[in-house]
Amino acid sequence: MRILFLGDVVGRTGRDTLGAKLPGLRATLQADLVVVNGENASHGFGLAPDMAQAMFAAGTDVITLGNHAWDRKEVIPYLASQPRLIRPMNFPPGTPGAGFVAIEVAGGRRALVMNVMGRLFMDALDCPFRASAQELSRHRLGATVHAIVIDIHAEATSEKIAYAHSFDGQVSLVVGTHTHAPTADHQILPGGTAYQSDAGMCGDYDSVIGMSKEGAAARFWRKMPGERLAPADGPATLCGVFVETDDATGLAIDIQPVRVGGRLSQAVPQ
Ligand SMILES: [Fe+2]
Ligand SMILES: [Fe+2]
Repeated sequence: MRILFLGDVVGRTGRDTLGAKLPGLRATLQADLVVVNGENASHGFGLAPDMAQAMFAAGTDVITLGNHAWDRKEVIPYLASQPRLIRPMNFPPGTPGAGFVAIEVAGGRRALVMNVMGRLFMDALDCPFRASAQELSRHRLGATVHAIVIDIHAEATSEKIAYAHSFDGQVSLVVGTHTHAPTADHQILPGGTAYQSDAGMCGDYDSVIGMSKEGAAARFWRKMPGERLAPADGPATLCGVFVETDDATGLAIDIQPVRVGGRLSQAVPQ
């Protein structure tokens, strides 16, 4: 299976660039499954239903979220009607929406997409490790599903790496989101799981993690809250990873970084 994962879409420039470039990128890569993190699509904070619909229309199969999941309240009823929009699974029981979805992709194959959130330097949720182990115990990679993709939305690289090693061989891809900076540690772990600590964002990199650099820097200088931050609005780079898996095992054959458009060095898988 050919899988494209793109990190946090930030603001209008992220949304517009995704809308403009994803259809072509999906075709070029012949992607069977496209997963995009949408937690910052609405002015940096949350995701509105119309934005999610535009992301789906551009060729996104599943949208994941993170700590900004609830910033746009309209998403709460929308989560109930749109199973392809998922939020971190380790929110407490009773939270709206689901943390995983199984979908059918080309050729009658099945893919499971999961979203979890880390706990280091973040809000205290239920244990992401135990929540994931419990859900994964219901699936067998290469038997009940052809691919399993997990977005671990977390601040600490150590937590993401520990998580990936914990499920190495059980899933096709573990990729981090939330830091908005792509890491260069993409690899296939010894058990066959593709991994990159952070996908990076889909946003303007002439910024502080997607937000206007002046306002964001002022907060560090003054150590007092300033105006509400606004997203930077220059050309966006779409960042993420492209993974190819073996349908028989569900394990990764290849992982390559993706950086398209904007000011970052370009990386388009061949
Ligand atoms: Fe984010
Ligand atoms: Fe986040």
